[in-house]
Amino acid sequence: MEQKIKEVDRMAANKVDNGFYGQDILSVSQFDRNKLDFIFGVADEMRMLVERFGSADLLQGKILANLFYEPSTRTSSSFMAAMLRLGGQVIPINNVQYSSVTKGESLPDTIRTLESYSDVIVIRHPEVGSAATAAHYASKPVINAGDGVGEHPTQALLDLFTVVEALGGISGLKVAMVGDLKYGRTVHSLTKLLVNYPVEFVFVSPDILRMPKDVIDVVDASGHQYTETEDVHDCIGDVDVLYITRVQKERFTDLAVYEAVKDHYVVDPALMSKAKQRMIVMHPLPRVNEISYAVDNDPRATYFRQMRNGMYVRMAVLAAVLGKA
Ligand code: NCD
Repeated sequence: MEQKIKEVDRMAANKVDNGFYGQDILSVSQFDRNKLDFIFGVADEMRMLVERFGSADLLQGKILANLFYEPSTRTSSSFMAAMLRLGGQVIPINNVQYSSVTKGESLPDTIRTLESYSDVIVIRHPEVGSAATAAHYASKPVINAGDGVGEHPTQALLDLFTVVEALGGISGLKVAMVGDLKYGRTVHSLTKLLVNYPVEFVFVSPDILRMPKDVIDVVDASGHQYTETEDVHDCIGDVDVLYITRVQKERFTDLAVYEAVKDHYVVDPALMSKAKQRMIVMHPLPRVNEISYAVDNDPRATYFRQMRNGMYVRMAVLAAVLGKA
């Protein structure tokens, strides 16, 4: 009996102590190293849980509203899988064109509706700040699954979790981000999260797709070193992480400009032959032409591992905000 009371106390304390219970996850700026360690620790447990048992009943009785105003394969299905593997249920809204959004319903009203049926809301939306708007109107936790060119915090969490798993740690790494640094929300979030660690940055992009000033300001303010270049050959030989991104076609107003830059960088066996033996190639996926299929079997190719880790990290995040981690 005493044992049981202690367990209940510990769970109650955890609800307060983990710092996530009932909270929105809108930006990576909410995370410090303690919080990252916590999420990574829970994600490790989730992996073991899935490998051993497949699923659990931790979130039984809980409902996730999965609201996607933009295309998604990995993010939406990994949030769904995460909820289902923890015994919860999902309201999937992937085709907003068939929802009342098409009738002209506002984001606040859609959120008010969904929060009355669910315990947590995941939202992807084309406008920067949309997840924060949703959170403003919701009393339930809101998780940002990509707000336009803004942020994609859970992607950055799974990216870092994968770096730790693949390279054993983060401190001291030289990280190159390559491609569409202007419109790529994953590199915005990843850069802002990496400033929690002593790392060095190389930003590789065409001039018109350089890292935005607000992200560079965060790097500057944290005292980190960074260099910017257009040529990936300037850094390929000495980076530990090569994080390449898709050129975000949907963000361009002039498609001729997109056509001109879309195939600027291609990771192929010739480029990989210049890279270190102990390094990793990452990509949030989907890829278009940025990584040749011939690289997929290179042991340094880490993008499919990122994708798998997404479910474990999202299981950890859902459990944390619902007070069950
Ligand atoms: C990314 C996104 O949506 O920002 N995809 C993802 O969530 N894994 C990257 C992209 O679309 O290029």
